[in-house]
Amino acid sequence: MARFIKPNGLHRRLEGWPLVFTVLVTISILVGGLVEYLPMVLIDDSVQRIESVRPFTPLELAGRDIYIREGCNNCHSQTVRPFRHELERYGEYTKAGETVYERPFLWGSKRTGPDLYRVGGKYPHLWHVRHMEDPRSTSPRSIMPPYPWLLEKPLKLDDLPRKLRVLQRLGTPYSEVEIAQAVDDARRQAREIAAEVEAQGGPAGLADREIVALVAYLQRLGTDIRTAETAPAPSAPAPSGPAPSAPAPSGPALAAGE
Ligand code: HEC
Repeated sequence: MARFIKPNGLHRRLEGWPLVFTVLVTISILVGGLVEYLPMVLIDDSVQRIESVRPFTPLELAGRDIYIREGCNNCHSQTVRPFRHELERYGEYTKAGETVYERPFLWGSKRTGPDLYRVGGKYPHLWHVRHMEDPRSTSPRSIMPPYPWLLEKPLKLDDLPRKLRVLQRLGTPYSEVEIAQAVDDARRQAREIAAEVEAQGGPAGLADREIVALVAYLQRLGTDIRTAETAPAPSAPAPSGPAPSAPAPSGPALAAGE
């Protein structure tokens, strides 16, 4: 040390004045902080916008809250990283612009189960219903816990207008009409999904159960850019028909850790 810091140099003297030194250190940290922070709040487009990315529908929003309530994000990340093995397994990597309406974001880093960012359209609705009711029925040897109550619990939609209002204040472009019609809109989408589940041979009467909101949300995940020019979509979403079993790309291990 002595070789680098001269005994009577400026640095040595500064260190001898604890108060001055503290003030100077504080100033330099603040300047560094501002340099990092200001562009984020001042530049409106610090995240590149993607034309085709739209806010969640009211029902999808309700499903997202159920996803958070059930702690699905403890086992599932929602961000496909730009690595070859991830692209081959999950598809297009997640762009920052795709998650601009996510509050809070659910990128995560824990992958006990596979990443879910591109799961939208991968399976028919009925697959998700069965998988939630009992993961072992679609994915033998799955270690995911079952969530059978999602098929029973009534779907609460009353607070949707307020949720949309809060998000609108934070910058999500929901219109007044969308907020006013949020509950009706959610019911309509729920009926559509329930009808499709029934048409695929699943249980009837799910339109007012929590599971339809969760399915709506899962089926939306990562699909916004699929219609845009980036859509390579080599594997088109499976239409109705028999539910495919979950692929286990990396051998027998179903716990899809990194
Ligand atoms: C204890 C960890 C754990 C929790 C909690 C968990 N999962 Fe999973 N999940 C897994 C594992 C492991 C798999 C892979 C095997 C399978 O398909 O069941 C999986 C698979 C999935 C798949 C299929 C993904 C694909 O591409 O095949 C979906 C969808 C899914 N989970 C949704 C959910 C939802 C929604 C919740 C919350 C209600 C949830 N998971 C909670 C561990 C978990």
